[in-house]
Amino acid sequence: MDRIRLSPDLELSRIVYGMWRLGDDEDTSPEHVRNKIAACLDQGITTMDQADIYGGYMAEEILGAALTPELRNRVEIVTKCDIVAPMGRYAEARVKYYDTSRAHILASVDHSLRLMGIDHIDLLLIHRPDPLMDACETGAALDEVVASGKVRAVGVSNFRPWDWTLLQASMKTPLCTNQIEISLLHHAPFTNGDIAFHQERGVAPMAWSPLGGGALFTDAKAPLRAALARIAADQGVDETAVAVAWLLAHPVRILPVLGTNTLARIARIAEASRVQMDRETWFELYTHALGHEVP
Ligand SMILES: NC(=O)c1ccc[n+]([C@@H]2O[C@H](COP(=O)([O-])OP(=O)(O)OC[C@H]3O[C@@H](n4cnc5c(N)ncnc54)[C@H](OP(=O)(O)O)[C@@H]3O)[C@@H](O)[C@H]2O)c1
Repeated sequence: MDRIRLSPDLELSRIVYGMWRLGDDEDTSPEHVRNKIAACLDQGITTMDQADIYGGYMAEEILGAALTPELRNRVEIVTKCDIVAPMGRYAEARVKYYDTSRAHILASVDHSLRLMGIDHIDLLLIHRPDPLMDACETGAALDEVVASGKVRAVGVSNFRPWDWTLLQASMKTPLCTNQIEISLLHHAPFTNGDIAFHQERGVAPMAWSPLGGGALFTDAKAPLRAALARIAADQGVDETAVAVAWLLAHPVRILPVLGTNTLARIARIAEASRVQMDRETWFELYTHALGHEVP
């Protein structure tokens, strides 16, 4: 498994395991979570993607219950903050909103550390762009959590280029990634400027829902599903691997974040690294995703 250096002291595995759905699994026992992490580690997938809000603000605690000191040292933990939704510890909120204030970021980092039972977060992301963001305050707070040693590196999620530029201009620490939705079902970032913006800056983006949350294999157009199945059969891999390889092929160095709860699927994620994805095959899948040939 390749590794991607995002900052001088942070490297992530090229493929990341996402824990948004951790609490949806009927088995959330520490032993079962450890089995999932072990299946990832067997393939060189060492990066675990969390957020304070996952599982109704419970997923970090589920991970924390499973982490042993030895296991914690073998993984990088990504988590996020700024979404306040009326559930869990924010049950009293009247409305869902974003909070990028210094007080919220500092409190959220402390919560995440406590729930996961760890002494630092490897990568903290601002989860969603906040229309009420005071970039100077948010940027300073991100610098502060890095300086405190509680967070090793910082980035953002779902930011458009202008959101990134605004925040980065107000802070000393380089933002090291942007986690955005990219897949064969959500390919606009390849042409809307998002990927171009990061490629220009040499920043590797993370891709959430790389299988469209599973819809790629259930709701996608028949020709796209047929092409995925044929390429998978030709190369002796799972269809999932082909869909992930389509992202890995891009020179911007996308880090796909996969969210399956199925152990057998987790065990095969790394097959994506050995799929041959030449230019013609990439465009074949892109054509089916577009529903028409490129102009
Ligand atoms: N930054 C953000 O705003 C944001 C937003 C969303 C997600 N994320 C991150 O991205 C991660 C991945 O998101 P995701 O879970 O939506 O990613 P995904 O990998 O695209 O989708 C996972 C879902 O697809 C299903 N699936 C996988 N292979 C399948 C197949 N062959 N046929 C049918 N269903 C299949 C899985 O079901 P099974 O579990 O039954 O295998 C699971 O429900 C999350 O865990 C989270 O860490 C971030």
